[in-house]
Amino acid sequence: MKRVQIAAAPAAGPEDNLLILAEKDGHDHLKGWLSSQEYNFLQQGLTRGTGHFFFARGNSAVFVKILKPEKDEYAAREDARLAGNDMLKELRHYKIETVVIRNACSSDRSLYFAEGMAMGSYQFLKYFSDPSKKEKPLHKILIEGNAEGIDEMNALIDAVFMARDLVNEPWSHLNTLQFADAIEDIGEKSGFSVKILEEGQISALKMGGLLAVNKASSVPPRFCILEWKPADIKNEKPVVLVGKGVVYDTGGLSLKPSDGMDYMKCDMAGAAAVVGAITAVSRMHLPMHVIGLIPVTDNKIGENALAPGDVITMSSGTTVEVVNTDAEGRLILADALHFARQYDPALVIDLATLTGSAVRALGNQVICYMGTASKKIKSEIEQSGFHTYERLVELPLWREFGDDLKSHIADLKNVGSSNAGMIAAGKFLEHFTKFPWLHLDIAGPAYLRTANGYRTKEGTGVGVRLIYDFLKNFVHE
Ligand code: BES
Ligand code: ZN
Ligand code: ZN
Repeated sequence: MKRVQIAAAPAAGPEDNLLILAEKDGHDHLKGWLSSQEYNFLQQGLTRGTGHFFFARGNSAVFVKILKPEKDEYAAREDARLAGNDMLKELRHYKIETVVIRNACSSDRSLYFAEGMAMGSYQFLKYFSDPSKKEKPLHKILIEGNAEGIDEMNALIDAVFMARDLVNEPWSHLNTLQFADAIEDIGEKSGFSVKILEEGQISALKMGGLLAVNKASSVPPRFCILEWKPADIKNEKPVVLVGKGVVYDTGGLSLKPSDGMDYMKCDMAGAAAVVGAITAVSRMHLPMHVIGLIPVTDNKIGENALAPGDVITMSSGTTVEVVNTDAEGRLILADALHFARQYDPALVIDLATLTGSAVRALGNQVICYMGTASKKIKSEIEQSGFHTYERLVELPLWREFGDDLKSHIADLKNVGSSNAGMIAAGKFLEHFTKFPWLHLDIAGPAYLRTANGYRTKEGTGVGVRLIYDFLKNFVHE
């Protein structure tokens, strides 16, 4: 399926489908673009509170979309994205594939409108026998006059779509090896380097967490190292991104119930976000050194499976009593975090669909985060969260939350009591960090059973735009 492209354009001609973004007040200049009949109709509609208008003009169409008045900047951007997504239904109804956006608002929100429209247009159709029957194409969104920011937005939309594709691929078509191959391919096409460690190397590194989770699998584990290091880097120490790459999570012997397992192909959404963010960083040639670490495995059952009560030794030498095999993400992330130490990183950010408690506590709009990075870094990532509308809420890592993880037989248990599970998971990971660190639990927003605005159903690609925005500002300090 052809993906939507945003581009700058000269003023729309009479043959073009024109989409005017306007506000409820101050729309006098619309007079010049509409016939007097159309303008009268518009004014009558506005008094009745109508938010959008359609005028047929032979083979083309004119839409007028009234955007809500601006509140704060980030809410205004989001309203524009959502309005863009709403517009899609209409374009699809009229089978329109190319549209020219003209801004008539006091501040130009056309780029965000286009962003919402583009992101909402995503479809994952490859497993239908005849995808063309389901296709609702939108090929081109042109923005009158405005070229600024368009390349970056296209790069981000491509990266988000790529992350969504990876999440949406079922385990039957994206097992551990296929995922590692896909990452290698993406690196080759995008220009960042990818090194894949195989089972022998993983064993030599004594990555006991990754090996334990993989024990029952018929497919060996992989450990992917992605690196973007252009000649003109501005950061002395790299930023390391770590992504949970569980291609399928059955829970292991602590088996999940069916209604919590059916969508567990999404358990590599953290890894997909890391791949997407580094792809966008490399495509936009950000002058920074960034490394991605992705432990990849499935979490299966079988006669060799890791058993509840087992004790394993992690690559750091820490011993862990595995009380629950469904708390597998933290085991593979711990090895990756320990691996990150060798880079002497300025900051490590891990992204993971880590806990059901994050979903239960905060739903699918929010990323639960915690960590030991500075207040400044935390406020910057929260700011990026507002800008991209991938918002974060911080949870505490107070010492007492770690008490639960004491084991009578090993250095640590992999689960605490049943309460505040997302914090217990964070406390567990903290043991393996000796650098400024942020942990982003994306279990809520990474996967949706039904679409929510421009966040299409299934994989959302959450994290890609957030991390890119954060890194971009990190570079320019
Ligand atoms: N992959 C799951 C977490 C998850 C839940 C992701 C819902 C996406 C949506 C994770 O491996 C898991 O099963 N965590 C357990 C941990 C528990 C056993 C301590 C959980 O949160 O239930
Ligand atoms: Zn699990
Ligand atoms: Zn999991």
